[in-house]
Amino acid sequence: MSPAPRALLLLLLLLLEAGAGAPSFQVDYANNCFRKDGAPFRYVSGSIHYARVPRPAWRDRLRKMYMSGLNAVQVYVPWNYHEPLPGVYDFSGDRDLGSFLELTAELGLLVILRPGPYICAEWEMGGLPAWLLWKPDIVLRSSDPDYLRAVDSWLGVLLPRVRPHLYQNGGNIISVQVENEYGSYAACDYDYLRHLLATFRARLGPDVLLFTTDGNSPAELRCGTLQGLYATVDFGPGPNMTAAFAPQRLYEPQGPLVNSEYYTGWLDYWGEAHAGTDPARVARGLQDMLQLGASVNMYMFQGGTNFGYWSGADYKGRYQPVTTSYDYDAPLSEAGDPTEKLFAIRTVIGKFQPLPEGPMPPATPKFAYGSVPLRQQAEVLELLDVLCPAGPIRSPFPLTFEAVKQAHGFVLYRTRLPRDVWTPAPLSSPPTAVCDRAYVLLNGEYQGRLERDGQAALNLTGQAGAPLDLLVENMGRINFGTNASDFKGLLQNLTLDSALLSDWLIYPLDVDAAVAQGWPLPTPQAGGSRARPGPALYTGSFQTPGIAWDTFVKFPGWSKGQLWVNGFNLGRYWARGPQQTLFVPGSLLSPSSPNNITLLELERPPPRPLLLFLDRPILNQTGALPPP
Ligand SMILES: *[C@@H]1O[C@H](CO)[C@@H](O)[C@H](O)[C@H]1NC(C)=O
Ligand SMILES: *[C@@H]1O[C@H](CO)[C@@H](O)[C@H](O)[C@H]1NC(C)=O
Ligand SMILES: *[C@@H]1O[C@H](CO)[C@@H](O)[C@H](O)[C@H]1NC(C)=O
Ligand SMILES: *[C@@H]1O[C@H](CO)[C@@H](O)[C@H](O)[C@H]1NC(C)=O
Ligand SMILES: *[C@@H]1O[C@H](CO)[C@@H](O)[C@H](O)[C@H]1NC(C)=O
Ligand SMILES: *[C@@H]1O[C@H](CO)[C@@H](O)[C@H](O)[C@H]1NC(C)=O
Repeated sequence: MSPAPRALLLLLLLLLEAGAGAPSFQVDYANNCFRKDGAPFRYVSGSIHYARVPRPAWRDRLRKMYMSGLNAVQVYVPWNYHEPLPGVYDFSGDRDLGSFLELTAELGLLVILRPGPYICAEWEMGGLPAWLLWKPDIVLRSSDPDYLRAVDSWLGVLLPRVRPHLYQNGGNIISVQVENEYGSYAACDYDYLRHLLATFRARLGPDVLLFTTDGNSPAELRCGTLQGLYATVDFGPGPNMTAAFAPQRLYEPQGPLVNSEYYTGWLDYWGEAHAGTDPARVARGLQDMLQLGASVNMYMFQGGTNFGYWSGADYKGRYQPVTTSYDYDAPLSEAGDPTEKLFAIRTVIGKFQPLPEGPMPPATPKFAYGSVPLRQQAEVLELLDVLCPAGPIRSPFPLTFEAVKQAHGFVLYRTRLPRDVWTPAPLSSPPTAVCDRAYVLLNGEYQGRLERDGQAALNLTGQAGAPLDLLVENMGRINFGTNASDFKGLLQNLTLDSALLSDWLIYPLDVDAAVAQGWPLPTPQAGGSRARPGPALYTGSFQTPGIAWDTFVKFPGWSKGQLWVNGFNLGRYWARGPQQTLFVPGSLLSPSSPNNITLLELERPPPRPLLLFLDRPILNQTGALPPP
């Protein structure tokens, strides 16, 4: 051999050797397992969503997950959390995905990343931005060119941020999921999945393991899987895990068994019973799956909270909005505390792999700050210039939230009575016209509400020209199934005694901006002045005894609304339950200055307007009604 080819051969050998040492993560089809750096590997993982946990608590929660014996965490990226308007991106503060990923690496956890673009997650619109609906006939989760254009520009921003964190590139992301439970969506558009596959490959490189997740039935897997994406399944505890995995084998006859969402609990809907799953049952199912050699992700391990307006909804014959708490009856509670379920799971994991040395970090301290009086600042109708500084939009007929570019929260629709109405006449809406609730006022007097899939008419009397206001609330867009284009607001015309109402003033309200700007100012001398029913803002403040511990706030006698503490939107409360308290992370509280509360009550305030801060949550009381 002449010297030149010999040098080349040496170089090649050196490169190969270097290659053997480079980080790798692959499917080993012959041995039905994963291979990490060449060695057989399986993950025991848990889901945590950084968007549902305040940033100051990320480390504590991840540490507890590591100490439970997990070697990985599974993480969704909610597109609508990061791209609030087309081309406007936010990766700062609570949205700092890069810092979250660095923290997981620092704590010794691998990451299974689920960047969507659709994620479900019981998250508003399944993570898709509401602005997609600015084009009303867009076909979401399909190869509709307008949808794909938005997806491509988002993935063009997100995936380059992800790429340095891939395992092959020295990071800790071992695999990346494409779409989510696509087989449960009616479109069944393989061109869409192919487009995503090509985009993920182009942006993330040839080596990263890409996979799909679907329900464990052949029907669900049919439209959710694609050649080139490793097919995994999801299911909860059951008596026969071999049978439960069988559908995965129809699509992946060889390779590791993977349950990407092993349900440790379940979500709650407003107005329905609190969900729970027996810890022993969860532990037994996990043991059975680990016995089979499967890789398992527990959904959820830490559920957390749907702060602000981020909770989603399901549609099963009727609209079912998800609660603010996403406790999920998970092994770590909403407030991040280890539960009996966590210890049962840890014991099972310990039978299969060594547990980390050292004690489980304890529950964070909680404090019952007690009762805080509130005072009505103003009714919403008195505040339109503050809540809608740009002024109203005029339209002969109602426009949707999307048409006026309002994603979340509230829009006020105002018209006038077209004639004198002396005998009660019904204000009516077609059954799907009000999305999702309208609080009705005539001449500023609260009349009651109209509700999606519920009350569709209200009787009114009044004089011609009397202002008729409907404050319409978005309760969260549908996050699962076929009805994904879930428009909000008044979607159809309303009638009064069968006559069409027209000539509307439409006020998109930005309550959050007003609260962030310090309005309304809290009044230290808050007291029990009696307020009349109807949408109104209330304020109060409280001083802590020099601590800033987590707490849970209860709403004695309040009906329904939204709560801010120190300007942070904690989410919706509703006497309907089952959730009766909202989680208030201690990181929001000041140990020294007064803590400022703003509350938007939509229906009826209690005779004594106050809040009660407790040291434990109440998540399981359905249908508690305010006192008369
Ligand atoms: C579990 O399911 C498998 C496959 O369907 C079946 O062969 C096995 O008998 C079942 N085991 C039990 C205990 O029922
Ligand atoms: C409106 O009033 C009519 C006549 O009094 C009554 O029959 C009807 O039930 C009322 N409708 C509602 C929604 O209250
Ligand atoms: C979609 O929503 C409409 C009305 O909102 C309803 O009639 C239909 O049954 C829903 N379809 C599914 C599959 O949930
Ligand atoms: C309301 O009614 C008008 C007149 O019939 C019609 O042009 C318009 O499309 C309707 N609007 C909606 C949202 O149904
Ligand atoms: C609450 O509001 C008061 C008055 O504006 C302000 O001085 C105080 O700093 C606020 N508290 C917090 C924790 O932001
Ligand atoms: C709610 O949960 C608490 C704490 O687990 C329990 O003590 C209580 O009995 C439950 N209440 C209802 C109504 O189920």
